[in-house]
Amino acid sequence: MHQRAHIDRRWLFASVLLAGCTGAQSALDTRGPNAASIATLWWVMFGLAVFVLAAFFLLIGWALFRRRPDTQGVDAQPHLDDVARADDPGALTAARARRLVAWGGAGVPAALLFVLLVCSVVVSRQVSAPPPADALVIDVTGHQYWWDVRYAAHDAGPAFRTANEIRLPVGQPAVIRLHSLDVIHSFWIPNLHGKLDMIPGRENRLVLQADSAGVFRGQCAEYCGVQHANMALHVVALPAADFESWREAQVAPARVPADSLQRAGERAFMETGCAVCHAVRGTEARAETGPDLTHFGSRLSIAAGTLPNRPGHLGGWITDPQRIKPGNLMPALRLDGSAVVALVAYLESLQ
Ligand code: CUA
Repeated sequence: MHQRAHIDRRWLFASVLLAGCTGAQSALDTRGPNAASIATLWWVMFGLAVFVLAAFFLLIGWALFRRRPDTQGVDAQPHLDDVARADDPGALTAARARRLVAWGGAGVPAALLFVLLVCSVVVSRQVSAPPPADALVIDVTGHQYWWDVRYAAHDAGPAFRTANEIRLPVGQPAVIRLHSLDVIHSFWIPNLHGKLDMIPGRENRLVLQADSAGVFRGQCAEYCGVQHANMALHVVALPAADFESWREAQVAPARVPADSLQRAGERAFMETGCAVCHAVRGTEARAETGPDLTHFGSRLSIAAGTLPNRPGHLGGWITDPQRIKPGNLMPALRLDGSAVVALVAYLESLQ
């Protein structure tokens, strides 16, 4: 039993150490050119740090275990000048000791830091290189606690709005313009790029590019309030043709309800309060306070990555959003069960 607990603890330690190395939200599992540059810089820093640590322990070992000149009876803690008086030709003289301190304590660290400075400047220049003029442009605005996503008009099609999810064509750079209307948030998709703050009254930009198809989780990386931890988003990288069909579907107005339940859901949406904050393009709901729900059914998550987008979760969310994500701005509307069922059917139909 004792042995088993010991092994479990070792596994735990190893998994904590390695947890950040792979997966859907790892800065070392790079899927784009900018993330790759940043990861290379990280490995250079890590390599130098390991080298410095190893050198430090070697020197400590040398100092502890080397043969000392015989100073017994002179002084328990010999002064450098006393050591220099020893007959050993390889002894540490005062002058050599001063040189060692000067080079080892100042020269070597300065040289290593200079190497890191050069690497940092090179990587900074790489990741801030201007994108091609025809790149996609996407405005992402941080809110407590969700992401408003607006694709600018492009040769390939008109502007449209979505939320908590960014889709990109594989291999093509997209300029992400970052904004905030309330507090400071920070936009971070570790597999694709480093983090960048979203600051009220200021626009920051970064270029996202995914080199392979996949779903990459992003996370707000600046504490912004009680639900900071539940402010996530997904970047979905798609082959160019799939991206184009997604974009065409997003540009289109919302689907018309296909049956009586969905029609009841649409009525509930307009009459019970949803439309006070949300927009569904093609209907009278045009408010911009909350996420645009025109194609809500096509999204991966509810409430900015808090729950997977499934009818059961959506029913729970509509019934009592404050229970699931306390402190978010969506109120509980105290709907009866049949209205919730109809709303879920309507919203999930908005593909
Ligand atoms: Cu937004 Cu933390």
